[in-house]
Amino acid sequence: MKLTHLLGLENMSKTEIETILDTARPFKNLFTRSVKKVPVLRGKTVVNLFFEPSTRTRTSFELAAKRLEADVINFVAATSSLSKGETVADTAETIEAMSSDIIVMRHSQSGSASLLSKAVKSNIINGGDGMHEHPTQALLDFFTMRDKKGKIEGLNVVILGDILHSRVARSNIYGLLKLGAKVTLCAPPTLIPKFHGLNVNIEYDLKKALVDADVINVLRIQQERMENSYFPSLREYTRFFGLTEEKMKHAKKDILIMHPGPMNRDVEIDHTVANSPNSVINEQVTNGVAVRMAVLYLMSGSDMRLDKIDAN
Ligand code: CP
Repeated sequence: MKLTHLLGLENMSKTEIETILDTARPFKNLFTRSVKKVPVLRGKTVVNLFFEPSTRTRTSFELAAKRLEADVINFVAATSSLSKGETVADTAETIEAMSSDIIVMRHSQSGSASLLSKAVKSNIINGGDGMHEHPTQALLDFFTMRDKKGKIEGLNVVILGDILHSRVARSNIYGLLKLGAKVTLCAPPTLIPKFHGLNVNIEYDLKKALVDADVINVLRIQQERMENSYFPSLREYTRFFGLTEEKMKHAKKDILIMHPGPMNRDVEIDHTVANSPNSVINEQVTNGVAVRMAVLYLMSGSDMRLDKIDAN
């Protein structure tokens, strides 16, 4: 499979998603070797074009590209000519004139990655566009679920928290339904948008949502995107929707606890729960590098065989 762009999971097929997950496996296997690099992207240039803050996604793409031996440029919006009025498309065209091959973009506007893909010749990866999608985060979530549970089909996955403002939630919902998981959304009613035509369950009582859950993916309260008051106070939110040790007593013993980060510890998740043996939050970060290597590999059109990577 050759990927041209990765803009979101809404329009991606089950087979395409599974191909990316399968491709990530040999790259993950590389991480235990003394030499973790393969020359898949030698001679290619990957540009990280981030207009919003990021720790995990930007560094993960940088590491993934470097492990594939690409040249990597990290673009910092605050010190660029954007501050002098240049448009995003002009900035991207300028970067492309220096022979970029793949651009990873994060931007506060929903739809910005799709717009960019029409404006430049490089392959575009959506590193998070506004409240729309964050496809590589969802893919690394799926890789982690499959790694830990052996499958995704039939799993009960609860997505807890600020779903309204969450691009991670949207990409997770689109992908999980295609992969055959049962998805339950749990949050105050003000933080659950209507998903027309999508077969998701809604549960406002976290204790009830936890009873059958195989996985709970806890989302950050995105105060920076909140223009209105969606709940009385953070304290009130934590009381009803914070994942605490007390509420975890209602969950299965082997539930997986996930969070895309960055976490508001002791707001949406207790620090003891985030650090508990059921938590796979750090493994999500590790798996993110493998999944992003797989996406870059599939985009590069490399003829290096996956079994050769595994045997490297
Ligand atoms: N999960 C995620 O997108 O984290 P960053 O904002 O740190 O990239």
